[in-house]
Amino acid sequence: MTKKKIYISGCGGMLGDAFYNTFKNEFELKCTDINDEEDWISFLDINKFEDYKKDVFSFYPNYLFHLGAYTDLEFCELNPEKTYITNTKSVEKATQIANQLNIPILYISTAGIFDGKKQIYDESDTPNPLGHYAKSKYFGELYVQKNANKFIICRAGWMMGGGPKKDKKFVNKILKQIKSGLNSLNVVNDKIGTPTYTIDFAKNVKKILELEYWGLYNLVCEGFTSRIEVCRYILDHLKLSSKININEVNTSFFKDEYFAIRPDSEQLINKKLNQKSINFMRDWKLCLSEYLDKDFKDYI
Ligand SMILES: NC(=O)c1ccc[n+]([C@@H]2O[C@H](COP(=O)([O-])OP(=O)(O)OC[C@H]3O[C@@H](n4cnc5c(N)ncnc54)[C@H](OP(=O)(O)O)[C@@H]3O)[C@@H](O)[C@H]2O)c1
Repeated sequence: MTKKKIYISGCGGMLGDAFYNTFKNEFELKCTDINDEEDWISFLDINKFEDYKKDVFSFYPNYLFHLGAYTDLEFCELNPEKTYITNTKSVEKATQIANQLNIPILYISTAGIFDGKKQIYDESDTPNPLGHYAKSKYFGELYVQKNANKFIICRAGWMMGGGPKKDKKFVNKILKQIKSGLNSLNVVNDKIGTPTYTIDFAKNVKKILELEYWGLYNLVCEGFTSRIEVCRYILDHLKLSSKININEVNTSFFKDEYFAIRPDSEQLINKKLNQKSINFMRDWKLCLSEYLDKDFKDYI
């Protein structure tokens, strides 16, 4: 039987890695990014719209996964124009390409589109994005919802995955500090959220796709937590709790380094997946243990 084909743009990042490994055996993939160090990735800038269209059309996929984005919130605050081109405009173009081929598009959004005034958000809550990153991602969401013939939009939380080389987020930031020999870590005590393991995320997207349950979904690990608890869990798991101290600080401590505004709560619940009985996301602690054991085994 011939395999169905997926074109994945922006596949060189932490989530792209998990998508490649989850889909590569059962689908024929074309993975692209501006970051094309891996031999399974070829170069494509999603902002070169004609090149994007040409490349997708020549591969003639059954699905278009549009992952590429600027994900550094501080960069986005400093470069709003570039941010809206890459995180919103390219999504509009990708949607048009998918429509022209009459294929479904997958778009990844974020828990950060909410303002964090509520404790927990489901899909019926109204977003109110605070900074440029969140706004650019929300505008992308709105465009896809309104214009795509068929779509899956999944909102991720605090992403963890990709290992020491690709993980740009909290878990790797903590591990880098541990590796550098710090024995006291400054961690914010006023942010709550839902970690999202890239491997579980990709597997659950595969289920949604196979069942053709088009639509918008929250897609995060089970269990709610805080930055402090995630850090504590990492130290416990690595048996470093007695050697490394956590210095609890509030957000203002990082006002220079992390000046982009972040919601106090980014806690999502997978309400629609639960209703459809297709929520296969595991508890974040289980996922974090697996991630540390697999990707950071000989790191420290
Ligand atoms: N990471 C999170 O916490 C998180 C949470 C919720 C949603 N998301 C969304 O999930 C998706 C995947 O992100 P990720 O977590 O895998 O982050 P990532 O590791 O930053 O991956 C994004 C990839 O897109 C690439 N890219 C940027 N501009 C591009 C362009 N013009 N053309 C082609 N590729 C480009 C990036 O390259 P460079 O590294 O060179 O910029 C990077 O390889 C994004 O849409 C993101 O907004 C992420």
